[in-house]
Amino acid sequence: MTVNENSQLTVALSKGRIMTDTLRLLKAAGIPVPDDLEESRKLILESPDGSIRYILAKPVDVPTYVEYGVADLGIVGKDVLLEAERDLYELLDLGIGRCRMCVCGLPEAHHGTVKRVASKYMRIAADHFRNQGQQVEVIFLNGSVELAPLIGLTDRIVDLVETGRTLAENGLVIHEEILQISTRLVANRMSFRLKSEQIDHITARLRDVTAKSFTVGE
Ligand code: PRP
Repeated sequence: MTVNENSQLTVALSKGRIMTDTLRLLKAAGIPVPDDLEESRKLILESPDGSIRYILAKPVDVPTYVEYGVADLGIVGKDVLLEAERDLYELLDLGIGRCRMCVCGLPEAHHGTVKRVASKYMRIAADHFRNQGQQVEVIFLNGSVELAPLIGLTDRIVDLVETGRTLAENGLVIHEEILQISTRLVANRMSFRLKSEQIDHITARLRDVTAKSFTVGE
């Protein structure tokens, strides 16, 4: 099947942790995916039938591509969406990439006052403490945030906890859970209107497999 450019959908995928589960979900939904997507170093790949062009982006950049309409759809974590606050539609909870956004620190710091917090998620961290009426300084770190309380930079971190292994191996504990995170399907607002047929089709198929995997898992 050949597809003209106007009907081709561009989908931005998040590189990294959620990629394997994302591809498994797309395939289960019968959405065409290039065979070599995970092995390839290409950043733009077409599905074998030409109906979908995939762009492989850093997760934090996915909402930007979708808001500006260079991608019609995006697959990205709720953590990134909350932090980015981009103007787009969130269509579906894909039920993969499940983890928790938590306030963590040393066990003995549990009852201490929070003065400084390190995070990759400046907005989520600041909002959380503001909503609790606490004045804290939030310091941005790009990764390995768990280091901050260990070496005395901050009293707490706000970070994702998946298995809890990183915390445990570094002697840190969860002080508070802020929210549950999972991967979402998002759409550009204009594409959602102009390409509604294709987007509805993909959303329905993904909803179907997502609902099934929830049933099996529960
Ligand atoms: C994430 C997160 C934690 C870790 C949690 O980091 O920031 O550090 O995973 O996973 P766990 O509970 O299963 O141990 P990532 O590996 O994405 O790298 P980063 O520290 O550079 O952000």
